Amino acid sequence: TVVYLNGQRVDYENAKVSVEDRGFQFGDGLYEVVHIYNGRFFYLDRHLARLQNGAKEIYMDLDFGLNNLEKVCRQAVKESGFNDASVYIQVTRGAAVRQHAFPKESSCTWVVIVRESKGNPQEFYENGITCITVPDERWSRCNIKTVQLLANCIAKEKAKKAGSFEAIFHRGGSVIEGSSSNVFIVKDNKLITHPANNKILNGITRGVVLEIADQNDIKYSEEVFCIDDLFDADEVFLTGTTTEIMPVVKVDGKIIGDGIPGKLTKIIQKYYQEHIQ
Ligand code: PDD
Repeated sequence: TVVYLNGQRVDYENAKVSVEDRGFQFGDGLYEVVHIYNGRFFYLDRHLARLQNGAKEIYMDLDFGLNNLEKVCRQAVKESGFNDASVYIQVTRGAAVRQHAFPKESSCTWVVIVRESKGNPQEFYENGITCITVPDERWSRCNIKTVQLLANCIAKEKAKKAGSFEAIFHRGGSVIEGSSSNVFIVKDNKLITHPANNKILNGITRGVVLEIADQNDIKYSEEVFCIDDLFDADEVFLTGTTTEIMPVVKVDGKIIGDGIPGKLTKIIQKYYQEHIQ
């Protein structure tokens, strides 16, 4: 594991931040997870652009410079020597005496962690996984990738306890997204996923799937659908940096479609694999 703290390479054991860090005290920070396939970043530019947008949304000045962050990410991956890895980027508003209002003089704490990725078991992609649904208890700005992930963590823990891979959030019966993934359904050969608004994180993988659909004449629409549409779908799959294209074969104990990964899901998986080569 390679760690850079505020632009400096540090040993894993010595990589420490202040007890007054606003990320620690207030969840006042942003993060990204980027995948490395065959030693190459998968859309680092899009992840950095999303980080920049998030910073704007929460009035955080990325004082270290985005170019500098990109350089450090590339350097850290090179030094790691890993071919398949995940890069965790976290940026907080820095350390200051605790008070809610933003400190006048603090500088960002920024961290890059490169870890070898083993990926999910191959059988998950081949046979599909199961999900549960849970009420969405998060705030109304889920388009921002903040480190305030407690509601997501509670949801994931519920899924784990239920023997499921993922928890799918719903709000008043509308399907929103997974605790760490986006949700697609297939109905009559058309992909449907929640619109990219304040209720979901606009996933990079979600975007790649929509591009794949565009390039291959696969119909899709970004619209709100309900839990019954999820249960009645021909196919369901999840997307995400660490999730990739994950077929869902059961939700809340109800079998989806034929109970095996669907036709369009497999086609998307194939194109995605070609994409990451
Ligand atoms: N999670 N929705 C949520 C709530 C997420 O946390 C994520 C990613 C996604 C998918 O986004 P992307 O395709 O850009 O990875 C959707 C990351 C991987 C995580 O928290 O580990």
